Amino acid sequence: MPASESHPADDKITVENYQRLLARYERLMEVIRQLNSTLDLGTLLNRIIDAAAELTDAEEASILLLDPVTGELRFEATTNMSGSAMEAIPVPLEGSLAGWVATHGQPGLVEDARSDERWYGKVDKTMQFITRNLLAVPMKVHNQVIGVVEAINKREDTRWTDDDVSTLTALADQAAIAVQNARLFQQSDFVAEMVHELRTPLAALKASTSLLLRPSMSDELRQEIVRTMHVETERLTRMTTEFLDLARLESGRARLDAQIFDIRQLAEECADLVRQQAQERDIDIRVSGDALKAEADREKIKQVLLNLLTNAIKYNREGGTILCEIAQAAPGRRRDPEHLLVRVRDSGYGISSEDQQHVFDKFFRIASTADKAVGTGLGLSIARRIIEAHGCMLDLESEPGVGTTFYFTLPLAAGGPRREKRLPGSAELSSSGAG
Ligand SMILES: Nc1ncnc2c1ncn2[C@@H]1O[C@H](COP(=O)(O)OP(=O)(O)OP(=O)(O)O)[C@@H](O)[C@H]1O
Ligand SMILES: [Mg+2]
Repeated sequence: MPASESHPADDKITVENYQRLLARYERLMEVIRQLNSTLDLGTLLNRIIDAAAELTDAEEASILLLDPVTGELRFEATTNMSGSAMEAIPVPLEGSLAGWVATHGQPGLVEDARSDERWYGKVDKTMQFITRNLLAVPMKVHNQVIGVVEAINKREDTRWTDDDVSTLTALADQAAIAVQNARLFQQSDFVAEMVHELRTPLAALKASTSLLLRPSMSDELRQEIVRTMHVETERLTRMTTEFLDLARLESGRARLDAQIFDIRQLAEECADLVRQQAQERDIDIRVSGDALKAEADREKIKQVLLNLLTNAIKYNREGGTILCEIAQAAPGRRRDPEHLLVRVRDSGYGISSEDQQHVFDKFFRIASTADKAVGTGLGLSIARRIIEAHGCMLDLESEPGVGTTFYFTLPLAAGGPRREKRLPGSAELSSSGAG
């Protein structure tokens, strides 16, 4: 039920009520000032939920944001649970109050969670928490919903009031702007880091050109300089492509061109492309498994596989092995009729559990192996974004000194001709030009 149909319990204007409201608005103003004083997204989200609970006399509060790439609604912060356990809970747009609020752009109320079908009970089970009632309002920037703020379980089980709705709405409006600013700031951080990365090859090129301008120089030295210039130009080209790919994926402008293809065949094709590089380090690459049909963006999956395979070469020992396996089941689960699984297993340096937390971060490279191979530290963040845009997951298992297995899932095609089904994030445009 939309909030406007609610039954305000305290619309009587008494002096006491008036003073309470005034205090509440003063507090709201103070909170809004605090929101504007940080650009750190995590801190900001926590301030928002604390304020949401406090201002509406709720026991708990949560914030959910829409992923700009996948369109998924996901818990980002809640007052009753720590971050990592929560991230695993996507909330469906249909069949949940938050989803209803996000799609309609209006506040929504559930007075009794047990009897309201829009209440999405899976969250409670995961959090071992009981929701009795909740109020949810959209977070909007330029009329576009970017997320939802929820206040959960009104204290003493009184009803939500119209004033709760308007206070939470005012908070959510300000919160939306603050979240957007924090995101823009993160992007500008990315730009700064990117420019920094570009300086190294540019400096090398600049030094080389000024050397070449010297009149007396042996042919040998001249050739050496030209070779350096070639290597640095290649590096610049690769880096700019990666920057563009990531910027497109993060802004949600990348489009998926879904088609049905044989994943095993693609894996063989990728293995052939990197075999020469592997042979230089005496590394053996094998592909095994079933000839399964995937329904995905072939070019982008090729990009993912190539990054995983080149990583498996770069961070492997001399004479090591790489096995790329295709299977149907998902890890840790029973046979999954909807997904296939691709594993890239290497016998390399391995990754410590501490570093495992960061390998998908932009520009992250493990210090102890960074000088062993060239790279920018963007390949895995791009790969994960691509797989997530397919509504699937990319993760790893690793044992230091033994090796690493990266694995990802993909939608399994039902077989037969190309189907009309759209992948999340795919749209009318078919080509991205990325990758
Ligand atoms: N198979 C692996 N074994 C061990 N370490 C790995 C493996 N794959 C990745 N890493 C570590 O994770 C880091 C990030 O990998 P990622 O592919 O994102 O970047 P990169 O390979 O350094 O550069 P590029 O942007 O060119 O891909 C690597 O620098 C390396 O330290
Ligand atoms: Mg890489």
